[in-house]
Amino acid sequence: KRPEGAPSPGLAKEIGKVGVVGAGLMAGQIALMFARRLEVPVVMTDLDEDRAQKGLAYVRAEIDKLEAKGRTSKLKAAKLRALVSATADKSVYADCDLVIEAVFEELGVKQAVFAEVESIVSDEALLVTNTSGLSITAMASGLKHPERLVGMHFFNPVAVMPLVEVIPTESTDKETLATAYAVAKKLKKTAVGSADRPAFIVNRLLGRMLAEVTGAVDAGTPVEVADVALDELGLPMRPFALLELVGLRVAWHLCQHLNEDLGPRFPASENLRKMAEAEFPVFDPEAKGKGRLTDEAKAQ
Ligand code: 3HC
Repeated sequence: KRPEGAPSPGLAKEIGKVGVVGAGLMAGQIALMFARRLEVPVVMTDLDEDRAQKGLAYVRAEIDKLEAKGRTSKLKAAKLRALVSATADKSVYADCDLVIEAVFEELGVKQAVFAEVESIVSDEALLVTNTSGLSITAMASGLKHPERLVGMHFFNPVAVMPLVEVIPTESTDKETLATAYAVAKKLKKTAVGSADRPAFIVNRLLGRMLAEVTGAVDAGTPVEVADVALDELGLPMRPFALLELVGLRVAWHLCQHLNEDLGPRFPASENLRKMAEAEFPVFDPEAKGKGRLTDEAKAQ
């Protein structure tokens, strides 16, 4: 069944090569997923060779894990290793059919990225942002061809989370949107359409939940109490483990942007800001999702 709002799949463009801007954690996971599911070359880029190669090392380690678990054959793992590459040389976008960015969550950074990418890609290439909730309309406003930009928001861990939000702007054309949905299907993700509004659908809910939990800590509730308060809902991870997975800085940016855009219903926790700035581990990784908090987190 075609997802609601998706144009005819017949309009979708073929994707023969993918560019991923950024070689951080989300970028690496996205690069691996595209290579694995679309079976096309995927090239990651970052500010310098060192970062690019670190991202590539992460992807290769993930491929090793897939092979060790028997999730992929030796032959397919070797093919995957050959499909994913990384470089600081942005000219590699020139023959990409789709370039997705997964860089720092700041509008100005994303706009600068797309200005550079658009100066290199072909006229037919699609531009995709993995923003977790910034205005895609604002990203499109500086483009020569805003009709080819669309949001595809994946969730961490990308290989495991089944959902992708597909976010068109008023300018996104039907071919671009049809391609986004066709790509989501090939990636074996469930696509849900969202309007281009702050934090789309999922992160608006997640941001509210994190704002309540961290806000309760600001108001004096002990961290250990706030962390277990939602246990009865049966969530796969407690809030502070989720904060660690999402990344404290990403979570802080999410809460801060929601506070700016939507007001006091989404308080931005002072403790979350402090933890994001200090960048220390919040939960004990040995204890997985139902984890113990580290002493540093408790001290906050
Ligand atoms: N990368 C790849 N695979 C991973 C992974 C990762 N980072 N983390 C876990 N997995 C895989 C494991 O390898 C395992 O695969 P296997 O079945 O082949 O062995 C499978 O996921 C299950 O993992 P585990 O058995 O280790 O642990 P759990 O059963 O506890 O599941 C979890 C781990 C999938 C992370 C689960 O706790 C979960 O679903 N947590 C909630 C995650 C969530 O809410 N994510 C959304 C965050 S919001 C976001 O990303 C948006 C952003 O914009 C802020």
